[in-house]
Formats: sequence, C-alpha cells, structure tokens
Amino acid sequence: VDGDGQRVFTLHAQPGQRDFGIDGTTRTFGFNGDYLGPTLRARRGERVRVDVVNNLDEDTSVHWHGMHLPARMDGGPHQPVRPGATWSPTWTVNQPAATLWYHPHPHGRTREQVNQGLAGMFILDDDDPTQRALPHDYGVDDIPVIVQDKDIHGGRIRNQKTGNLLLVNGTYAPYLTVVTDRVRLRLLNASVSRVYAFGLADQRPVHLVATDGGRLAAPVPLSRIRLSPGERAEIVVPVHAGERVALRSFPPELGGKSFETGRDQFDVLDLRAAATLRRSANLPADFGELPRLDPATAVTTRDFRLTGTNINGDEMDMDRIDAVTTLGTTEIWTVRNTDGQRHNFHVHDVQFRVLSIDGAAPPAELSGWKDTVFLPPKSAARLIMKFADYADPELPYMYHCHLLMHEDDGMMGQFVVV
Ligand code: C2O
Ligand code: CU
Ligand code: CU
Repeated sequence: VDGDGQRVFTLHAQPGQRDFGIDGTTRTFGFNGDYLGPTLRARRGERVRVDVVNNLDEDTSVHWHGMHLPARMDGGPHQPVRPGATWSPTWTVNQPAATLWYHPHPHGRTREQVNQGLAGMFILDDDDPTQRALPHDYGVDDIPVIVQDKDIHGGRIRNQKTGNLLLVNGTYAPYLTVVTDRVRLRLLNASVSRVYAFGLADQRPVHLVATDGGRLAAPVPLSRIRLSPGERAEIVVPVHAGERVALRSFPPELGGKSFETGRDQFDVLDLRAAATLRRSANLPADFGELPRLDPATAVTTRDFRLTGTNINGDEMDMDRIDAVTTLGTTEIWTVRNTDGQRHNFHVHDVQFRVLSIDGAAPPAELSGWKDTVFLPPKSAARLIMKFADYADPELPYMYHCHLLMHEDDGMMGQFVVV
C-alpha cells in the first residue's frame, strides 16, 4: 500500500524455464517468475494500481477477467504493452468478493501467451459475513487451484488445443496436505479449450459456494461441477482424518463432436489429510439472497449467434463497434451456439445472471453472478446484465468465446458503454 492508500502491485511478464518433471527443462512465460503469476488480492472499496512491465520481446496486455472497471483499464487488445514498456492501470474495486483472474489479451496472441504460462488469480474480498463463515486461511484451508492441460514436448509447451497432462498451479501431479476437516478450493479453468467436470474420486458431495462473480445465495450440494475455459467455482470439500482422496476431472458430458483426443479423465489434485484435523466452522445453510436484475427493466435485447469462428457472421475487427449500450441500463442478451462444436461466452466489464438455458430455468450452479457461460452444441442462453458506473464512447469492451483458439481466430466482438 503506497502513501495515498493505494494498493500497488507489479507484474513483470517475462520468459523463463521450468522443469515440470515431464520432459526436462521447458521454455515458459511467467509473471515475476517462470510460470503463472502471484495471486493478487484486494478489498471492495480499495484503490488498486498494477504496474505491468513487459519483459517479453513481443507485445502483450493484461486483462482483469471478471473485474468491473473502466474500459481503458480493462487490458484488452486496445491496451497493448510494448516490449520494454510499463502500463499502470488503476481502479477502485467495486464489486463483491470473488475469485477473478488475470491473463494476456493481445489481439490474436492470447492463446499462445496464456498457454506458455501467463495467468494468475485475483481474489477480491468484502465485508459480507459469508466470507468469514467459509474457510479463508489462504494456502491452509483456502486454496487456489488453477487447472491447465498441457502438451509438453522437446523443451517447449506446444500450442495444441488440448494436452494429455494436467498442471495445477504450474505443478505436475500435485498433492495438498489438508489440516482442517473442510477445505475451500478456488477452481479456475485456465486451459486453452478443455472443459472439465470436477468432483471427488469417490463421488462424495461437495458444496458449491461461489461462481465467477462471487457467492451464491446458499451452498449447493453436488458431486460434479462443470467448468469451461475462463470459468471459476469455489467448492467446500469435507475431508476425513488420515484419508487420501483425489479431486478428479471426470469425462464431461458435452454433446457434439469432441476435439479432445486421448485422456478425458484426470486426477487433478491429491488431497492428503493429516492424522488429526482441525475442525472448521459449520457451513451456513444460507448466505443471503443475491440482488436481482428484473427482466421487465431491460431496455434492449440482443442476439448473438456463435458459428465457426464468428459471431453474427462477423469476425473480430478492432475498428468495428458491434454494440452500443447505454450507461445505467439493463439488457438481455440471447447467446446461441448454432454449431456442432462447443463454445462458451464471456462478457467483459459486467457480471450477468443466467435467465434461462434452452428455455428452462438455469440449474442451481448457474444461479449466481457469472461472466462466462458454457454453451454446448446447439444450445442457447439468455443473460441479463446491467451496464453501470463506467462509460467511454471511444474504447470498447470485448465479448467472446473463451476457447482461446476461437477467440484468437475471430470469435469476438466489441461493445461500448456510452
Ligand atoms: Cu478472460 Cu476477454 O477474457
Ligand atoms: Cu474478461
Ligand atoms: Cu468457441
């Protein structure tokens, strides 16, 4: 924290090398290290500044995925950071506690740079009593779990759609020593394109407590949680003294044709419980209602059709604004995957609520604030969102498929808030 009460972080994007224990020394990218970046953390109401230093020999940018902030601080393709340059966005945290993340977003190069290792978690805190009721001792019973599949060969991370081995927080075959009888896992799918269905190997129920934009209204018991690229979920896992149990990714049921060859089941993280465990606080039955966005207040509805590498027939054009929204208004967006392959849909600046999936009320795991939603082949989602606080007639925010090769290939559009 500097003299003005501002929380200041520095991120150096840099080349590195790491021995993952897979294929010798591998060339990588990282922030402040050889792979991934530090977990950044700030409180609601706090002023934040991040000094992003580009020590790569190519352009990059850093986008704050899930963060509500002005367009010129967003870190999308319109805020490139040249080699040797420093970019210092600043904003005030203005949203509930949540598990967000950061990653590069250079036009056409996002997949390559994320895949090489540029990504990190950005945790937001607030004074909601839920946050104290949940396990919250970072690194002890509150654990970041950044999941990425990789294809590592010949000293480099290959730029494939999927890989047949998993890294968690940059570690191959990881385990966690658990010392409490409940552990909170902050799951982030930071993969290029793979979709996971996370659960415990013995199928025991866990509680989903938060999704992309923060806590749910109540914990939701489930045995699987599906996450497509960019999505997050916080789960609370019950653990028994002395046991070993794996967090697993089961073959997700996705419909349509699959580009995922080879393995489709992975043990993600081995939980190794100590012989005696500290008792965690009981999970409240209820966290409190979430505010609603009333569909009757929506001033505009828009349709987005995702097909091939385009949205509504167009590929991304940095010089074209696809939608103009009005500050302070609520809109309903219907997003359709008309393809036989998977997509998802991510919107910058806002957190939205899912009104329906294929005409039906969303399942409990999609009942909270989201910024990214999975779209199985031939599916449609109706989303409601409000554009508040930040207007900029010049600089757009992005919406796009977060399967990174689709995003880079043009499945992205731009909107401004005026
Ligand atoms: Cu995770 Cu447009 O980004
Ligand atoms: Cu984003
Ligand atoms: Cu896609």
